[in-house]
Amino acid sequence: MKFFIDTANLKEIEETAGYGLLDGVTTNPSLMAKEGISEQDGHIRAICALTNGPVSAEVISTEKEAMIKEGRHLAALAQNVTIKLPLTLDGLFATKTLAAEGIKVNLTLVFSALQALLAAKAGAAFVSPFVGRLDDIGHDGLEIISEIINIYSNYGFETKIIVASIRSTQHILKSALLGADVATIPFKILRRLATHPLTDSGVATFLADHTKATQK
Ligand code: G3P
Repeated sequence: MKFFIDTANLKEIEETAGYGLLDGVTTNPSLMAKEGISEQDGHIRAICALTNGPVSAEVISTEKEAMIKEGRHLAALAQNVTIKLPLTLDGLFATKTLAAEGIKVNLTLVFSALQALLAAKAGAAFVSPFVGRLDDIGHDGLEIISEIINIYSNYGFETKIIVASIRSTQHILKSALLGADVATIPFKILRRLATHPLTDSGVATFLADHTKATQK
């Protein structure tokens, strides 16, 4: 399973790379705004310099021709930029056009397996189902991950599934058990993956025993 980090924060990206856990980055306009970024181009270039993996940069446009223009512009910023488009009819049209030009697209804001089927048919390199936001409204977000995996396997689609809108370590565990390609993980949850109280108490006991033995 690949780990992308869901952030526009350069320090978080660098730290994740330092642990050997960074396979790519996903951003969106809300994450950019959280970092106070008003000019996206320079910041996307800075993120791309920190990883060889795919970096998703999201368009602001909502109309297909404008999406294509913005997508081409973002794709020219660095060789590892992936264009993030919302899964709308305009987004599908733009995906088809950009994919034909060899530009990788990540179709985002996906809330059903049928939307994911459309993403694959349009030629998206990645699809981003939002599990947390589905859970928030009383659905089981992970259910659509299982459905998408089934559908893609039935027809041999190569579109990679990025589990997005992750709220918990359980989302990652269950996605890995299902065989999802990628989890895009908020930094605070990534840190939580490495933490276990028995690991901490075990380290404390080893240190205490070592101190006792060496002070005799
Ligand atoms: O990758 C999409 C993700 O950032 C959305 O997460 O927490 O805003 O639902 P959230």
